[in-house]
Amino acid sequence: MIEFNNFSREYSFLKDEIDLAINRVLDSGRYVLSKEVSNFENNFSNYLGAKYCVSVASGTDALTISLMALGIESGDEVITTSMTAYPTIIGILNAGAKPVLVDINPDDMLISPDAIEAAINKKTKAIIPVHLYGQCCNMERISKIASKFNIHVVEDCAQSTGSSYKNKNAGTIGACGAFSFYPTKNLGCYGDGGAIVTDQDDIYVKLKLLRNYGQELNYNHNINGLNSRLDEIQAAILSVKLPYLDAWNKIRNEIAQKYLENLQGLRFLTKSSHITHSYHLFVARISERERERFSQYLKGNGVQSLIHYPIPAHEQAAFEGCIFDKCKQASSSSKEIISLPINPWLKNEETDFIIECINNFK
Ligand SMILES: Cc1ncc(COP(=O)(O)O)c(C=O)c1O
Repeated sequence: MIEFNNFSREYSFLKDEIDLAINRVLDSGRYVLSKEVSNFENNFSNYLGAKYCVSVASGTDALTISLMALGIESGDEVITTSMTAYPTIIGILNAGAKPVLVDINPDDMLISPDAIEAAINKKTKAIIPVHLYGQCCNMERISKIASKFNIHVVEDCAQSTGSSYKNKNAGTIGACGAFSFYPTKNLGCYGDGGAIVTDQDDIYVKLKLLRNYGQELNYNHNINGLNSRLDEIQAAILSVKLPYLDAWNKIRNEIAQKYLENLQGLRFLTKSSHITHSYHLFVARISERERERFSQYLKGNGVQSLIHYPIPAHEQAAFEGCIFDKCKQASSSSKEIISLPINPWLKNEETDFIIECINNFK
């Protein structure tokens, strides 16, 4: 079976370095908010070219804590896309705010700036553009809209670690960039983890308080915060993996290029020339009528495929919030998309096999 992800291949490549890092933490006797965490935070902010990085327990918390640090509270509205992983919505709800979902561009499936602008009202306090699949949203337009209406931008970079927009790294354009280190991500740890980057001193101070019960010194609580900390073991693992990220993203791009040049019978998203893609996912389109048979055909040939996402956020049973203008593109796209295996551990012969297999689909 060609699996969608292959963590055991990754671990066997990194085993010596990872084992050393984990043992170093175990030997140190310091497991929460110590040297490894601050070391990784420095490494990650340097990598991105951001002034500060505050690590947290997950990508979902990274969104919540960013919104809280920006002063978003109950009754405030936060605009985001319906075509995202549902945790984006949970991140907003956990901050006490109301998610307002808007539609996507049909060509790249990213949040539509026109839809954002149309959905803004007096209660709107923030926009969360989601850099889906490793692409980047149109940050020039989104930043202009945000400054016109004086609202914050928090970039959801869970799927775009290492992507850039007009030579600026994803996460460094809005007030905060929220990252996930869930194992499947381009930079993943071996459990849950996340981080926020910002250039703003006052936001940085708040982020640090909010992830640690609101305390600056032990047992002195300035504000009410969360318990949301990256642990020392995950931080040490991430410091091992970060130096490989660009090379791994390059491999992802090479696989994507091979798919784009050789696959027949599928349609693809349009890539803007302004972005450096990190191909967290390779998403193709096939007609709604054929998708199920196609994915069963792939499975029958030993190729795992997934759908990101089969149900857009506005159609989820749990969704509580506001849907702006029906999100028709998100609904129709969700029925046509299919994600093919793409990861740095895919062997050349496996990519070739996937291509041959797809091109033989009748
Ligand atoms: C776009 C997006 N936002 C937020 C998240 C939440 O990240 P985490 O799983 O680390 O909480 C994810 C991960 O699934 C995601 O893909």
